[in-house]
Amino acid sequence: MENTVVIGAQWGDEGKAKITDLLAENADIIIRYQGGCNAGHTVVANGKTFKFHLIPSGILYKNKLCFIGAGTVIYPDVLKKEIEDLKKDNIDLSGLKISPLASITMPYHIDVDGYSEDTAKGAEKIGTTKKGIGPTYTDKISRHGIKVQDLFDEEGLSNKLDLILPLKNKELTQVYGLKSYSKEEVTALCKKYAEIIKPYLCNDWQKIFLDAKKENKIILFEGAQGVMLDVDWGTYPYVTSSNPVAGGACTGSGFGPTVIKEIIGVSKAYITRVGEGPFATELTDETGEKIRNIGHEFGTTTGRPRRTGWFDAVVAKYGVLVSGLTSMAVTKLDVFDTFEEIKVCVAYKDKRNGEIYDYYPTNINIHKYLEPVYETHAGWKSNISDIKKYEDLPENAKKYIKRLEELMGVPVSIVSVGPGRNQTIFR
Ligand code: GDP
Ligand code: IMO
Ligand code: MG
Repeated sequence: MENTVVIGAQWGDEGKAKITDLLAENADIIIRYQGGCNAGHTVVANGKTFKFHLIPSGILYKNKLCFIGAGTVIYPDVLKKEIEDLKKDNIDLSGLKISPLASITMPYHIDVDGYSEDTAKGAEKIGTTKKGIGPTYTDKISRHGIKVQDLFDEEGLSNKLDLILPLKNKELTQVYGLKSYSKEEVTALCKKYAEIIKPYLCNDWQKIFLDAKKENKIILFEGAQGVMLDVDWGTYPYVTSSNPVAGGACTGSGFGPTVIKEIIGVSKAYITRVGEGPFATELTDETGEKIRNIGHEFGTTTGRPRRTGWFDAVVAKYGVLVSGLTSMAVTKLDVFDTFEEIKVCVAYKDKRNGEIYDYYPTNINIHKYLEPVYETHAGWKSNISDIKKYEDLPENAKKYIKRLEELMGVPVSIVSVGPGRNQTIFR
Protein backbone atom coordinates (compact mmCIF):
# COMPACT_ATOMS: atom_id res chain seq x y z
CA MET A 1 0.00 0.00 0.00
CA GLU A 2 1.08 3.58 -0.68
CA ASN A 3 0.17 6.78 1.15
CA THR A 4 -3.57 7.02 0.57
CA VAL A 5 -6.38 9.48 1.15
CA VAL A 6 -9.89 8.10 1.72
CA ILE A 7 -12.66 10.60 1.13
CA GLY A 8 -16.41 10.62 0.79
CA ALA A 9 -17.44 11.22 -2.83
CA GLN A 10 -21.10 12.05 -2.12
CA TRP A 11 -22.87 13.80 0.79
CA GLY A 12 -21.24 11.82 3.59
CA ASP A 13 -21.93 8.43 5.20
CA GLU A 14 -20.60 6.55 2.18
CA GLY A 15 -18.86 3.95 4.34
CA LYS A 16 -15.52 5.76 4.60
CA ALA A 17 -14.81 4.35 8.04
CA LYS A 18 -15.22 0.75 6.89
CA ILE A 19 -12.74 1.35 4.05
CA THR A 20 -10.33 3.28 6.32
CA ASP A 21 -10.40 0.52 8.93
CA LEU A 22 -9.56 -2.09 6.30
CA LEU A 23 -6.72 -0.09 4.76
CA ALA A 24 -5.41 0.87 8.23
CA GLU A 25 -4.23 -2.70 8.75
CA ASN A 26 -1.38 -1.97 6.33
CA ALA A 27 -0.74 1.64 7.37
CA ASP A 28 1.53 3.06 10.10
CA ILE A 29 -0.10 6.45 10.62
CA ILE A 30 -3.80 7.28 10.25
CA ILE A 31 -4.85 10.94 10.29
CA ARG A 32 -8.30 12.53 10.53
CA TYR A 33 -7.71 15.89 8.93
CA GLN A 34 -10.96 17.90 8.98
CA GLY A 35 -14.42 18.07 10.47
CA GLY A 36 -15.37 17.31 14.03
CA CYS A 37 -17.96 15.31 15.88
CA ASN A 38 -20.47 16.00 13.12
CA ALA A 39 -18.91 12.87 11.63
CA GLY A 40 -20.31 9.47 12.53
CA HIS A 41 -17.99 6.71 11.34
CA THR A 42 -19.05 3.09 11.75
CA VAL A 43 -16.66 0.17 11.86
CA VAL A 44 -17.93 -3.36 12.35
CA ALA A 45 -15.06 -5.50 13.63
CA ASN A 46 -14.48 -8.38 16.02
CA GLY A 47 -18.23 -8.93 16.30
CA LYS A 48 -18.84 -5.39 17.52
CA THR A 49 -20.04 -2.12 16.04
CA PHE A 50 -17.86 0.90 16.82
CA LYS A 51 -18.99 4.46 16.13
CA PHE A 52 -16.27 7.09 15.88
CA HIS A 53 -16.81 10.82 15.77
CA LEU A 54 -13.31 12.22 16.18
CA ILE A 55 -10.94 9.31 16.68
CA PRO A 56 -9.49 7.89 13.44
CA SER A 57 -10.97 4.62 12.26
CA GLY A 58 -7.55 2.94 12.48
CA ILE A 59 -7.60 2.87 16.28
CA LEU A 60 -8.79 -0.75 16.46
CA TYR A 61 -5.34 -2.01 15.41
CA LYS A 62 -2.43 -2.05 17.84
CA ASN A 63 0.81 -0.16 17.17
CA LYS A 64 -0.65 2.45 14.82
CA LEU A 65 -0.33 6.18 15.33
CA CYS A 66 -3.79 7.72 15.04
CA PHE A 67 -3.75 11.49 14.70
CA ILE A 68 -6.58 13.94 15.20
CA GLY A 69 -5.09 16.52 12.87
CA ALA A 70 -4.71 20.29 12.78
CA GLY A 71 -7.67 20.82 10.47
CA THR A 72 -10.16 19.22 12.83
CA VAL A 73 -12.40 20.84 15.43
CA ILE A 74 -12.61 19.04 18.75
CA TYR A 75 -15.43 19.20 21.24
CA PRO A 76 -13.62 17.78 24.28
CA ASP A 77 -16.74 16.39 25.98
CA VAL A 78 -17.50 14.21 22.94
CA LEU A 79 -13.85 13.18 22.72
CA LYS A 80 -13.90 12.22 26.41
CA LYS A 81 -16.95 9.99 25.91
CA GLU A 82 -15.43 8.39 22.85
CA ILE A 83 -12.20 7.65 24.75
CA GLU A 84 -14.10 6.23 27.71
CA ASP A 85 -16.21 3.98 25.47
CA LEU A 86 -13.14 2.63 23.70
CA LYS A 87 -11.39 2.01 27.03
CA LYS A 88 -14.43 0.02 28.20
CA ASP A 89 -13.95 -2.14 25.09
CA ASN A 90 -10.27 -2.58 26.02
CA ILE A 91 -9.08 -0.77 22.91
CA ASP A 92 -5.45 0.31 23.25
CA LEU A 93 -5.31 4.10 22.95
CA SER A 94 -1.56 4.51 23.32
CA GLY A 95 -1.29 5.44 19.62
CA LEU A 96 -3.81 8.28 19.83
CA LYS A 97 -2.25 11.69 19.17
CA ILE A 98 -3.87 15.10 19.06
CA SER A 99 -2.45 18.03 17.10
CA PRO A 100 -1.75 21.17 19.16
CA LEU A 101 -3.10 23.10 16.17
CA ALA A 102 -6.59 21.58 16.13
CA SER A 103 -9.41 23.96 17.08
CA ILE A 104 -11.61 23.65 20.13
CA THR A 105 -15.40 23.72 19.92
CA MET A 106 -16.63 25.73 22.92
CA PRO A 107 -20.13 25.45 24.40
CA TYR A 108 -21.00 28.85 22.92
CA HIS A 109 -20.37 27.44 19.43
CA ILE A 110 -22.93 24.75 20.13
CA ASP A 111 -25.34 27.35 21.54
CA VAL A 112 -25.09 29.42 18.36
CA ASP A 113 -25.39 26.41 16.02
CA GLY A 114 -28.48 25.19 17.88
CA TYR A 115 -30.03 28.65 17.96
CA SER A 116 -29.39 29.26 14.25
CA GLU A 117 -30.94 25.95 13.27
CA ASP A 118 -33.90 26.20 15.63
CA THR A 119 -34.87 29.71 14.54
CA ALA A 120 -34.05 29.35 10.84
CA LYS A 121 -36.92 29.71 8.45
CA GLY A 122 -37.27 28.14 4.98
CA ALA A 123 -34.10 28.34 2.94
CA GLU A 124 -32.05 29.54 5.96
CA LYS A 125 -32.14 26.08 7.49
CA ILE A 126 -29.05 23.98 6.71
CA GLY A 127 -30.03 20.94 8.76
CA THR A 128 -26.70 20.88 10.62
CA THR A 129 -25.78 18.29 13.22
CA LYS A 130 -25.90 21.07 15.86
CA LYS A 131 -22.41 20.13 17.04
CA GLY A 132 -21.11 23.69 16.77
CA ILE A 133 -19.11 22.95 13.62
CA GLY A 134 -19.94 26.10 11.61
CA PRO A 135 -19.40 28.53 14.53
CA THR A 136 -16.10 26.85 15.51
CA TYR A 137 -14.71 27.14 11.97
CA THR A 138 -16.09 30.70 11.74
CA ASP A 139 -14.05 31.67 14.81
CA LYS A 140 -11.00 29.87 13.44
CA ILE A 141 -11.15 31.77 10.15
CA SER A 142 -11.89 35.10 11.84
CA ARG A 143 -8.89 34.42 14.12
CA HIS A 144 -10.96 34.29 17.29
CA GLY A 145 -10.58 30.57 17.80
CA ILE A 146 -9.11 28.63 20.70
CA LYS A 147 -6.61 26.01 19.61
CA VAL A 148 -5.52 22.92 21.51
CA GLN A 149 -2.15 24.52 22.27
CA ASP A 150 -3.88 27.51 23.91
CA LEU A 151 -5.27 25.18 26.56
CA PHE A 152 -1.72 24.56 27.79
CA ASP A 153 -0.58 28.20 27.73
CA GLU A 154 -2.06 29.99 30.74
CA GLU A 155 -0.75 33.46 29.90
CA GLY A 156 -1.50 33.21 26.18
CA LEU A 157 -5.01 31.96 26.85
CA SER A 158 -5.71 34.70 29.39
CA ASN A 159 -4.62 37.38 26.90
CA LYS A 160 -6.65 35.76 24.14
CA LEU A 161 -9.79 35.60 26.27
CA ASP A 162 -9.39 39.29 27.12
CA LEU A 163 -9.49 40.00 23.40
CA ILE A 164 -12.16 37.64 22.20
CA LEU A 165 -14.62 37.27 25.08
CA PRO A 166 -16.02 40.84 25.12
CA LEU A 167 -16.76 40.53 21.40
CA LYS A 168 -18.10 36.99 21.72
CA ASN A 169 -20.39 37.98 24.57
CA LYS A 170 -21.71 40.97 22.64
CA GLU A 171 -22.53 38.65 19.76
CA LEU A 172 -24.06 36.00 22.02
CA THR A 173 -26.30 38.37 23.97
CA GLN A 174 -27.11 41.10 21.47
CA VAL A 175 -27.32 39.17 18.19
CA TYR A 176 -28.63 35.84 19.43
CA GLY A 177 -30.16 36.66 22.81
CA LEU A 178 -28.10 33.83 24.33
CA LYS A 179 -26.22 33.66 27.61
CA SER A 180 -22.79 35.21 27.99
CA TYR A 181 -19.68 33.50 29.38
CA SER A 182 -17.42 34.96 32.08
CA LYS A 183 -13.66 34.73 31.79
CA GLU A 184 -13.54 32.57 34.95
CA GLU A 185 -16.07 30.17 33.47
CA VAL A 186 -14.23 29.83 30.15
CA THR A 187 -10.85 29.51 31.89
CA ALA A 188 -12.23 26.71 34.06
CA LEU A 189 -13.67 24.97 30.97
CA CYS A 190 -10.33 25.23 29.21
CA LYS A 191 -8.60 23.68 32.23
CA LYS A 192 -11.04 20.79 32.11
CA TYR A 193 -10.47 20.40 28.36
CA ALA A 194 -6.70 20.42 28.86
CA GLU A 195 -7.02 17.50 31.28
CA ILE A 196 -9.01 15.50 28.71
CA ILE A 197 -6.54 16.16 25.90
CA LYS A 198 -3.24 16.12 27.86
CA PRO A 199 -2.50 12.35 27.64
CA TYR A 200 -2.72 12.53 23.85
CA LEU A 201 -1.26 15.98 23.12
CA CYS A 202 1.43 15.62 20.46
CA ASN A 203 3.86 18.50 20.50
CA ASP A 204 6.56 16.52 18.67
CA TRP A 205 4.46 15.86 15.58
CA GLN A 206 7.07 17.49 13.31
CA LYS A 207 9.71 14.97 14.39
CA ILE A 208 7.25 12.07 14.02
CA PHE A 209 6.22 13.20 10.54
CA LEU A 210 9.80 13.81 9.36
CA ASP A 211 10.87 10.39 10.65
CA ALA A 212 7.82 8.81 8.99
CA LYS A 213 8.87 10.27 5.65
CA LYS A 214 12.48 9.16 6.10
CA GLU A 215 11.44 5.66 7.06
CA ASN A 216 8.83 5.41 4.29
CA LYS A 217 6.06 4.79 6.79
CA ILE A 218 2.62 4.32 5.23
CA ILE A 219 0.24 7.19 5.91
CA LEU A 220 -3.52 6.93 5.58
CA PHE A 221 -5.62 10.09 5.56
CA GLU A 222 -9.21 9.68 6.71
CA GLY A 223 -11.72 12.20 5.39
CA ALA A 224 -14.99 13.07 7.04
CA GLN A 225 -18.23 14.18 5.32
CA GLY A 226 -17.96 14.21 1.51
CA VAL A 227 -17.10 16.22 -1.60
CA MET A 228 -20.64 17.60 -1.97
CA LEU A 229 -20.54 18.92 1.62
CA ASP A 230 -17.24 20.74 1.05
CA VAL A 231 -17.44 24.44 1.94
CA ASP A 232 -15.76 25.44 -1.34
CA TRP A 233 -16.91 22.68 -3.71
CA GLY A 234 -20.20 21.43 -2.31
CA THR A 235 -23.79 22.59 -2.63
CA TYR A 236 -23.12 25.88 -0.82
CA PRO A 237 -24.62 27.00 1.56
CA TYR A 238 -25.94 23.49 2.29
CA VAL A 239 -22.52 22.24 3.24
CA THR A 240 -20.33 21.73 6.26
CA SER A 241 -17.67 24.31 7.15
CA SER A 242 -14.49 22.42 6.27
CA ASN A 243 -12.79 20.86 3.24
CA PRO A 244 -13.64 17.17 2.88
CA VAL A 245 -12.08 17.16 -0.63
CA ALA A 246 -8.69 15.44 -0.92
CA GLY A 247 -6.89 18.81 -0.75
CA GLY A 248 -8.08 19.07 2.84
CA ALA A 249 -5.79 16.12 3.65
CA CYS A 250 -2.82 18.43 3.12
CA THR A 251 -4.06 21.60 4.78
CA GLY A 252 -5.42 19.61 7.70
CA SER A 253 -2.68 17.07 8.39
CA GLY A 254 0.78 18.63 8.20
CA PHE A 255 1.84 16.54 5.20
CA GLY A 256 2.10 18.31 1.84
CA PRO A 257 0.57 17.08 -1.44
CA THR A 258 3.74 15.32 -2.64
CA VAL A 259 3.42 12.53 -0.05
CA ILE A 260 0.04 11.42 -1.42
CA LYS A 261 0.04 8.59 -3.94
CA GLU A 262 -3.53 7.27 -3.99
CA ILE A 263 -6.86 9.00 -3.49
CA ILE A 264 -9.81 6.68 -3.02
CA GLY A 265 -13.29 8.16 -3.19
CA VAL A 266 -16.02 6.24 -1.43
CA SER A 267 -19.50 6.14 -2.96
CA LYS A 268 -22.53 4.11 -2.10
CA ALA A 269 -24.10 2.17 -4.98
CA TYR A 270 -26.86 4.77 -4.49
CA ILE A 271 -26.80 8.13 -2.65
CA THR A 272 -27.94 9.41 0.72
CA ARG A 273 -28.00 12.86 2.24
CA VAL A 274 -28.93 14.14 5.69
CA GLY A 275 -29.85 17.77 6.10
CA GLU A 276 -31.16 20.23 3.56
CA GLY A 277 -29.96 21.08 0.06
CA PRO A 278 -30.27 19.92 -3.53
CA PHE A 279 -30.25 16.20 -4.27
CA ALA A 280 -31.19 15.62 -7.89
CA THR A 281 -31.79 11.87 -7.72
CA GLU A 282 -33.68 11.88 -4.42
CA LEU A 283 -36.50 9.32 -4.21
CA THR A 284 -39.38 10.36 -2.00
CA ASP A 285 -41.45 7.32 -3.00
CA GLU A 286 -41.52 3.71 -1.83
CA THR A 287 -38.28 2.91 -3.69
CA GLY A 288 -36.54 5.54 -1.57
CA GLU A 289 -38.13 4.02 1.53
CA LYS A 290 -36.97 0.56 0.46
CA ILE A 291 -33.37 1.76 0.10
CA ARG A 292 -33.59 3.45 3.54
CA ASN A 293 -34.92 0.32 5.21
CA ILE A 294 -32.60 -2.21 3.61
CA GLY A 295 -29.59 0.09 3.90
CA HIS A 296 -30.45 1.15 7.50
CA GLU A 297 -30.11 4.73 6.38
CA PHE A 298 -30.43 6.62 9.64
CA GLY A 299 -27.77 9.12 10.75
CA THR A 300 -24.92 7.76 12.91
CA THR A 301 -24.56 11.07 14.74
CA THR A 302 -28.13 12.38 14.92
CA GLY A 303 -30.33 9.35 14.16
CA ARG A 304 -32.16 11.37 11.49
CA PRO A 305 -33.58 9.37 8.56
CA ARG A 306 -31.29 9.86 5.59
CA ARG A 307 -32.71 11.04 2.29
CA THR A 308 -32.10 8.38 -0.36
CA GLY A 309 -31.80 8.28 -4.15
CA TRP A 310 -30.20 6.68 -7.20
CA PHE A 311 -26.49 6.87 -7.97
CA ASP A 312 -25.61 10.16 -9.61
CA ALA A 313 -22.71 9.83 -12.04
CA VAL A 314 -22.61 13.62 -12.52
CA VAL A 315 -21.82 13.99 -8.82
CA ALA A 316 -19.28 11.15 -8.99
CA LYS A 317 -17.49 12.65 -12.00
CA TYR A 318 -17.37 16.00 -10.20
CA GLY A 319 -15.76 14.32 -7.18
CA VAL A 320 -13.23 12.58 -9.40
CA LEU A 321 -12.26 16.00 -10.76
CA VAL A 322 -12.14 18.19 -7.66
CA SER A 323 -10.51 15.55 -5.48
CA GLY A 324 -8.26 14.00 -8.13
CA LEU A 325 -9.52 10.52 -7.31
CA THR A 326 -7.37 7.65 -8.51
CA SER A 327 -10.12 5.11 -7.88
CA MET A 328 -13.53 4.66 -6.31
CA ALA A 329 -14.70 2.26 -3.62
CA VAL A 330 -18.36 1.36 -4.15
CA THR A 331 -20.14 0.34 -0.95
CA LYS A 332 -23.52 -1.13 -0.09
CA LEU A 333 -23.95 -2.90 -3.42
CA ASP A 334 -25.76 -5.63 -1.45
CA VAL A 335 -28.61 -3.20 -0.70
CA PHE A 336 -29.79 -3.73 -4.29
CA ASP A 337 -29.94 -7.54 -3.98
CA THR A 338 -33.74 -7.63 -4.25
CA PHE A 339 -34.16 -4.86 -6.82
CA GLU A 340 -35.69 -5.61 -10.25
CA GLU A 341 -34.03 -2.58 -11.74
CA ILE A 342 -31.53 0.07 -10.74
CA LYS A 343 -31.26 3.55 -12.18
CA VAL A 344 -28.21 5.73 -12.67
CA CYS A 345 -28.32 9.44 -13.39
CA VAL A 346 -26.02 10.27 -16.31
CA ALA A 347 -26.91 13.95 -16.81
CA TYR A 348 -29.43 16.63 -15.82
CA LYS A 349 -31.99 18.18 -18.15
CA ASP A 350 -33.22 21.76 -17.71
CA LYS A 351 -37.02 21.56 -17.80
CA ARG A 352 -37.22 25.13 -19.13
CA ASN A 353 -35.28 24.70 -22.35
CA GLY A 354 -34.17 21.08 -22.60
CA GLU A 355 -30.52 21.98 -22.03
CA ILE A 356 -28.47 18.96 -20.93
CA TYR A 357 -25.86 19.26 -18.20
CA ASP A 358 -23.30 16.48 -18.01
CA TYR A 359 -21.24 18.45 -15.50
CA TYR A 360 -22.34 19.61 -12.03
CA PRO A 361 -24.16 22.99 -12.04
CA THR A 362 -22.64 24.67 -8.98
CA ASN A 363 -25.27 27.42 -8.79
CA ILE A 364 -27.78 25.54 -6.71
CA ASN A 365 -30.52 28.07 -7.48
CA ILE A 366 -31.09 26.46 -10.87
CA HIS A 367 -31.44 22.96 -9.46
CA LYS A 368 -35.19 23.35 -9.06
CA TYR A 369 -35.42 23.47 -12.86
CA LEU A 370 -33.31 20.33 -13.38
CA GLU A 371 -34.41 16.74 -13.68
CA PRO A 372 -32.16 13.69 -13.78
CA VAL A 373 -31.62 11.83 -17.05
CA TYR A 374 -31.59 8.16 -16.10
CA GLU A 375 -30.45 4.95 -17.64
CA THR A 376 -31.88 1.73 -16.23
CA HIS A 377 -29.96 -1.41 -15.33
CA ALA A 378 -31.36 -4.86 -14.59
CA GLY A 379 -30.90 -6.06 -11.00
CA TRP A 380 -29.24 -9.36 -10.11
CA LYS A 381 -31.88 -10.66 -7.71
CA SER A 382 -29.54 -12.71 -5.55
CA ASN A 383 -27.67 -12.41 -2.27
CA ILE A 384 -24.15 -11.08 -2.89
CA SER A 385 -23.20 -10.40 0.73
CA ASP A 386 -20.99 -13.50 1.04
CA ILE A 387 -19.16 -13.11 -2.25
CA LYS A 388 -15.39 -12.71 -1.84
CA LYS A 389 -14.13 -12.53 -5.45
CA TYR A 390 -15.09 -10.02 -8.10
CA GLU A 391 -15.46 -12.76 -10.73
CA ASP A 392 -18.11 -14.43 -8.56
CA LEU A 393 -20.44 -11.42 -8.56
CA PRO A 394 -23.57 -11.90 -10.72
CA GLU A 395 -23.17 -10.68 -14.30
CA ASN A 396 -25.63 -7.81 -13.79
CA ALA A 397 -23.74 -6.58 -10.72
CA LYS A 398 -20.49 -6.57 -12.71
CA LYS A 399 -22.23 -4.78 -15.58
CA TYR A 400 -23.46 -2.13 -13.13
CA ILE A 401 -19.96 -1.57 -11.72
CA LYS A 402 -18.44 -1.50 -15.21
CA ARG A 403 -20.93 1.16 -16.30
CA LEU A 404 -20.17 3.27 -13.21
CA GLU A 405 -16.47 3.08 -14.08
CA GLU A 406 -17.18 4.26 -17.64
CA LEU A 407 -19.31 7.15 -16.42
CA MET A 408 -16.90 8.25 -13.64
CA GLY A 409 -13.68 7.79 -15.60
CA VAL A 410 -11.87 5.96 -12.78
CA PRO A 411 -11.68 2.28 -11.84
CA VAL A 412 -13.65 0.80 -8.98
CA SER A 413 -10.89 -0.63 -6.79
CA ILE A 414 -13.04 -1.88 -3.92
CA VAL A 415 -16.58 -3.26 -3.83
CA SER A 416 -18.27 -3.58 -0.45
CA VAL A 417 -21.13 -6.05 -0.04
CA GLY A 418 -21.85 -5.76 3.68
CA PRO A 419 -20.73 -3.89 6.81
CA GLY A 420 -18.23 -6.53 7.94
CA ARG A 421 -14.51 -6.52 7.23
CA ASN A 422 -14.75 -9.78 5.30
CA GLN A 423 -17.56 -8.46 3.12
CA THR A 424 -15.16 -6.58 0.91
CA ILE A 425 -13.86 -7.31 -2.57
CA PHE A 426 -10.47 -5.78 -3.40
CA ARG A 427 -9.68 -5.80 -7.10
P1 GDP B 1 -19.09 7.00 7.00
O1 GDP B 1 -19.54 8.20 7.75
O2 GDP B 1 -18.79 7.30 5.57
O3 GDP B 1 -17.95 6.26 7.66
O4 GDP B 1 -20.34 6.00 6.96
P2 GDP B 1 -21.37 5.70 8.17
O5 GDP B 1 -20.69 4.85 9.16
O6 GDP B 1 -22.03 6.93 8.64
O7 GDP B 1 -22.50 4.90 7.39
C1 GDP B 1 -22.22 3.76 6.64
C2 GDP B 1 -23.10 2.62 7.18
O8 GDP B 1 -23.15 1.58 6.23
C3 GDP B 1 -22.54 1.98 8.44
O9 GDP B 1 -23.60 1.57 9.23
C4 GDP B 1 -21.75 0.78 7.91
O10 GDP B 1 -21.65 -0.27 8.86
C5 GDP B 1 -22.62 0.37 6.76
N1 GDP B 1 -21.91 -0.26 5.63
C6 GDP B 1 -20.70 0.05 5.12
N2 GDP B 1 -20.46 -0.65 4.01
C7 GDP B 1 -21.55 -1.43 3.81
C8 GDP B 1 -21.92 -2.36 2.78
O11 GDP B 1 -21.19 -2.62 1.83
N3 GDP B 1 -23.16 -2.94 2.90
C9 GDP B 1 -23.99 -2.66 3.94
N4 GDP B 1 -25.17 -3.28 3.95
N5 GDP B 1 -23.67 -1.80 4.91
C10 GDP B 1 -22.48 -1.18 4.83
P1 IMO C 1 -19.66 11.61 8.00
O1 IMO C 1 -18.19 11.88 8.23
C1 IMO C 1 -23.45 13.12 6.56
C2 IMO C 1 -24.18 17.41 7.06
C3 IMO C 1 -25.30 17.82 7.97
C4 IMO C 1 -25.73 19.10 7.29
C5 IMO C 1 -24.42 19.70 6.83
C6 IMO C 1 -23.85 20.74 7.79
O2 IMO C 1 -20.25 10.65 8.93
O3 IMO C 1 -19.89 11.29 6.56
P2 IMO C 1 -22.62 20.55 10.12
O4 IMO C 1 -23.09 19.99 11.43
O5 IMO C 1 -21.40 19.90 9.59
O6 IMO C 1 -22.51 22.05 10.15
O7 IMO C 1 -23.83 20.23 9.11
O8 IMO C 1 -23.52 18.61 6.72
N1 IMO C 1 -23.17 16.51 7.68
C7 IMO C 1 -23.07 15.21 7.40
N2 IMO C 1 -23.85 14.41 6.65
N3 IMO C 1 -22.36 12.63 7.15
C8 IMO C 1 -21.55 13.43 7.88
O9 IMO C 1 -20.37 13.01 8.36
C9 IMO C 1 -21.92 14.77 8.08
N4 IMO C 1 -21.39 15.81 8.77
C10 IMO C 1 -22.16 16.86 8.50
O10 IMO C 1 -26.31 16.85 8.00
O11 IMO C 1 -26.48 18.79 6.14
MG1 MG D 1 -21.23 8.89 8.81
